[in-house]
Amino acid sequence: MSNTIHLSQAGVSVVIDTTSGTPAILHWGKALPAIHNVDDLVLTQVEPTPHCDFDAPQTIGIWRENSRGFIGQPTLVGARSGRDFSNQFVLRDTKVDGNVATFISVDAEAELEVLARFELTAQGVLKVSQQVTNLGFTDYRVDGITTFLPVPDYTKSVLDFHGRWMRERQPQRQEIRVGTWLREGREGRTGHDATTIQFALAEAATYERGEVWGLSLAWSGNSRQLVERTAIGRTSIAAGELLLADEVILKSNETYEAPVAVAVYSNEGVNGASHRLHQMLRARANHPTNIRPRPITLNVWEAVYFDHDFDKLSALADAAAEIGVERFVLDDGWFGSRRDDKSGLGDWVVSADVWPEGLGKLVNKVKSVGMEFGLWFEGEMVNADSDLYRAHPDWILHAGGRVPPTFRDQQVLDLAHEGAFEHVFNQVNAILSEYDIAYIKWDHNRVLTEAAHLGQAAVRRQVQAIYRMFDQFKAAHPGLEIESCASGGARIDLGMVDHADRFWTSDNNDALERQSINRYTSIVIPPEMLGTHIGPTKAHSTRRTHSHTFRAVTALWGHAGLEWDLTEANAEERELLKSWAAYYKSKRGLLHSGKTIRADQTETTSFIHGVVSNDKSEAIFMYAQLTTSDYSRPANIRLTGLDENAEYRVRVVEPAGPATAMQLLPPKWYAGVQLSGALLATVGLRSPVLHPEQAMLIEVSRV
Ligand code: DGJ
Repeated sequence: MSNTIHLSQAGVSVVIDTTSGTPAILHWGKALPAIHNVDDLVLTQVEPTPHCDFDAPQTIGIWRENSRGFIGQPTLVGARSGRDFSNQFVLRDTKVDGNVATFISVDAEAELEVLARFELTAQGVLKVSQQVTNLGFTDYRVDGITTFLPVPDYTKSVLDFHGRWMRERQPQRQEIRVGTWLREGREGRTGHDATTIQFALAEAATYERGEVWGLSLAWSGNSRQLVERTAIGRTSIAAGELLLADEVILKSNETYEAPVAVAVYSNEGVNGASHRLHQMLRARANHPTNIRPRPITLNVWEAVYFDHDFDKLSALADAAAEIGVERFVLDDGWFGSRRDDKSGLGDWVVSADVWPEGLGKLVNKVKSVGMEFGLWFEGEMVNADSDLYRAHPDWILHAGGRVPPTFRDQQVLDLAHEGAFEHVFNQVNAILSEYDIAYIKWDHNRVLTEAAHLGQAAVRRQVQAIYRMFDQFKAAHPGLEIESCASGGARIDLGMVDHADRFWTSDNNDALERQSINRYTSIVIPPEMLGTHIGPTKAHSTRRTHSHTFRAVTALWGHAGLEWDLTEANAEERELLKSWAAYYKSKRGLLHSGKTIRADQTETTSFIHGVVSNDKSEAIFMYAQLTTSDYSRPANIRLTGLDENAEYRVRVVEPAGPATAMQLLPPKWYAGVQLSGALLATVGLRSPVLHPEQAMLIEVSRV
């Protein structure tokens, strides 16, 4: 077998060479034709030997060992009581099976074995798994494995996302310079500020165009993501779990498996990369849309908060059913002493104060009007004022004998205590067994501090425990769906995607804020997994008021739902909601399967956002006016991603009412027009002059 492995799928190639005795990535990016002159390719990658450098060229492989002359961050960091901190892994075994290449290397001296597995999926996504096994008899401490992938010298900028509660995943872009641009997550959960994905971009790359290399981590705990350009000139993108001191200590023959790093290349801009990720997730047999269309969901949190009352909720259920809602979710406040957010977490038994007859009456009511029932939990948390805490104050994550500062009056339950895990699992399981519950919304409303189990850092164990618990719920209750919520969108990542079916994207239901939160969260997570709810006229989060149309159009770009006291909605609003719900149902097949388009715009005052079906026969676009335009006549609306050679019928649709505008006459094409995909993408349509905080829908169908 040649020493060079060429994985190639869906327009992406990965070339890994092992000639030097360690796997080295020669190329990750655009698909290469079959490589016949492999030796020459290897030759071209041998570095020169500048002055003031090693005397001969060094080949740095994926493990980036100092022993091979690499001056920089190694892939594996660890030590055995101060020894074996430096390694040289020698390749022992290479396996190639279709588009999966696995390399096992050993450092006999340090008694360590490392494994790296590269899987190029049918969608062109590269999944990298790395692990280390302790072959020695003494303990080996792992400080971290970071997966580094080379990106070309011509990458120019880094794009990633920052955020906070109510404002998750806002883009930031900057030039790559010598040094490291590092994003760390230390909240013990993914975090509102998690970048979710980081991109290195070629000079002219945009959402629609150019070469981009993205990396995301399949992990819901502490993380680090970075783009690094070294002084020698090479650039890498990297991601790994951020381990706390002594968090992982391997005994003899134990293995640390790093979370999978999910790498995505596209020469069709960020949208192309995003589509590969969406298609990879959609190919899973248990992907939510492969089970059933995403049901319109009413979550009652903002409708009633802690004020649980059967008559009120029953009226809400009637109003929801009339509109066409398919799932009704009872949020926080139904259990233990939970009459406000100061007590009760940890006691997952129905409160006799608010639900003296149990939840059965409400579940039956909801089902009798044709909806399924969902229920809120926050099982990883405990209030000091709870039966659980009174019985087991030691079952919280803590260190040094200190009780961590409270956060929403709560502490984090240490799920590494088998008793704590069993308590939560059994209580929740009992509720799921007693009532017909199709869906749980699982919250996580505080960051972890001093996260230790019996004195040892335990973020990793906590994450593994919640994955296990979700999987156990699903095994015990086939068909159960789980929403991952964490004060809105603080636990959204490619790790949780395998254990939950939906994410609560943000606690901010203000449609203006949601325009960007939805748009950028959907780069990694497909819209069908992102909860997007329409709320009342005045947003609870910001006190901004928005038109019905703007709120309704905004809420279409995800797994649609409502967060609204519908009993207060007037007749006109209810009619509009009915037609909006019917529209969502008729279009969710397209909205939840096609390619998401984020148009490149020079104006920052509007968004053009759409979904084009995979066969390019139909599409829906949203034109959202965020603020007033800089111009009296804003830039053309370009509709991209269509078949350039096909003719399309284009029309404005108003299932949630018309957008209001500052114009005497709308653009003439409003009444309907027929144009080629090429013209729609290049010339586009004259835009209307919408009022700020307005949005309209444009439907496109092939003639
Ligand atoms: C935070 C969530 O994000 C909200 O949707 C709601 O479930 C509250 N927690 C309940 O306490």
